[in-house]
Amino acid sequence: MKFFVDTAEIDAIRELNDLGMVDGVTTNPSLIAKSGRDIFEVTKEICDLVEGPVSAEVVATEYDAMLREGEHLAKIAPNICVKVPLTWAGLKTCKVLSAQGTQVNVTLCFSANQALLAAKAGATFISPFIGRLDDINIDGMELIEDIRTIYDNYDFGTEILAASIRSANHMKDAALIGADVATAPPGVIKAMINHPLTDKGLDAFLADATKAGIKIV
Ligand code: G3P
Repeated sequence: MKFFVDTAEIDAIRELNDLGMVDGVTTNPSLIAKSGRDIFEVTKEICDLVEGPVSAEVVATEYDAMLREGEHLAKIAPNICVKVPLTWAGLKTCKVLSAQGTQVNVTLCFSANQALLAAKAGATFISPFIGRLDDINIDGMELIEDIRTIYDNYDFGTEILAASIRSANHMKDAALIGADVATAPPGVIKAMINHPLTDKGLDAFLADATKAGIKIV
């Protein structure tokens, strides 16, 4: 499973990228606003830092304006992936941008039928939002399972990008189901390493090493 990092914070991206944990980046208007930076400036910086796709989201809602924005965003760098909402205007924009050779991430997906439409429109990625479904007592992981089954039934090339990931368990479950990509905040990716038995075991090893006077260099 590829790891995308869901943030526009450069330092956090750099830290994980140096560890080989970043296959791409996703942003959205909320994350850009949180960064306090200009969308073009920060997105260009991210594109220069990571090799994989960097999702940058449109803010127009009508097709003509959305396409213009998408084409504009696509000029930032070759690894830009234009993010469009799961609306008819978004799907039409997706179809046109995909035909132009631009990667497209169709976002705000909350149903298998929506994911089927995005695949038909030629999306590079579909972003089902797990956490926001969990928030309203609907099992977000079931949606990932359903989309996996449907895409495999018909060999759709659209990649499942599990989004709105809130916990390390979400990462594990998405990987078990076979999501192609999971995008998560830096803190969630970092939390994947935590295990109390690792800490306890390391403490015991270090105590024994000290007792025995073990020195390696
Ligand atoms: O990738 C979409 C993601 O940023 C949404 O996450 O936690 O705001 O639902 P969240």
